[in-house]
Amino acid sequence: MDILDRVAVLRGAGRDVISLCAGEPSGGAPAEVSHAAASLHASGRALTYTSALGIRELRAEVAAHYGRWYGVDVDPSRVAITTGSSGAFLLAFLAAFEAGDRVALARPGYPAYRNILRALGCEVVEMDCGPEVRYQPTPELLAAAHGQGRLAGLVLASPANPTGTMVSRAELAAVTAWCLEHGVRLVSDEIYHGVTYPEPGAPDPRGVCAWELDESAVVISSFSKYWGMTGWRLGWMLLPEDLVRAVDALAGNVALCPPAPAQYAAVAAFTAESYAECDEAVAEFGRTRRLLLDHADRLAWGPAAPADGAFYYYADLGPQLATWGSSSAYAAALLEQAGVALTPGGDFDDRAGACSVRLSFAAGSLAVGEAIERIVAFQQR
Ligand SMILES: Cc1ncc(COP(=O)(O)O)c(C=O)c1O
Repeated sequence: MDILDRVAVLRGAGRDVISLCAGEPSGGAPAEVSHAAASLHASGRALTYTSALGIRELRAEVAAHYGRWYGVDVDPSRVAITTGSSGAFLLAFLAAFEAGDRVALARPGYPAYRNILRALGCEVVEMDCGPEVRYQPTPELLAAAHGQGRLAGLVLASPANPTGTMVSRAELAAVTAWCLEHGVRLVSDEIYHGVTYPEPGAPDPRGVCAWELDESAVVISSFSKYWGMTGWRLGWMLLPEDLVRAVDALAGNVALCPPAPAQYAAVAAFTAESYAECDEAVAEFGRTRRLLLDHADRLAWGPAAPADGAFYYYADLGPQLATWGSSSAYAAALLEQAGVALTPGGDFDDRAGACSVRLSFAAGSLAVGEAIERIVAFQQR
């Protein structure tokens, strides 16, 4: 967010900056969602509080989505609509864990998990997940962490941020079985489902939903990424039976309800037209990813994570480190001198992240193509 603020200052001063630091699609919501929002406002309908867990129509649409994508039959009463998936993390962690509980996470990983858990007094147990495990937790890593003190939970994201790596059905099944056997609550962050780049005919092209394997997991997702609706602040959870009442009570106290206008409009996110529009946006991410991978050698960085999904390229800076010393120094110089904003890896990994950067290719091929040229020129200075 600090880098985004700096981008805004530079742009305000007339600089031409390519921003590849934020994980957000630029295309906006599907047309039918925008039209629904416009009609809602034109109707003059009073936008009062909704139920704490969200409006009935949207909970039903989310439940039906799981039938469509994963063949999972979800009872709408187990769906909680939330203020982005960020709001879902707070509610899920509050409901599922107690202060002092040990909760495991992959390092590198999305920083909000550990920050929220720590703020709630949980003990964050970061597991170093490098290329040898495709940056994802395994039963072996979990067993090692559990051996040092009982784990109460695991947060797993597939596709992950910052690496984009995904777990296969067999890998997720092994982790789920381990969690069940050891009484560890799995929180599955599936916010990047659908933003994936499978080979034709590959199994589970959208990602594997934890509820295909075990309904005691908490599944968290959002309208932010596949649907491109970051600013609408709308997400959801699939809740195990034993957490529904607690989340309902907490949600009513924390925020009363998720944003009402966004909820009414998001009902239109599940039409055939909306899915088609989102799939077209993902196809463009895929073309941008291809362009980036085809030109990766020219960047003269080190090895990168595979980017199975999401829109991130997470790479070691390799030879650039000798010049710049750290990814934050590199990213600061690149922004000021060449007008390209990347995210230094320290946000995702406070140990090895000083060697890595994350490039978000959500901005599309034109922006990424131009950024590659600027990076190459910057490094040749
Ligand atoms: C892995 C992951 N989970 C959750 C979020 C939060 O998204 P939101 O609150 O917009 O749903 C992000 C945002 O970038 C993310 O990368």
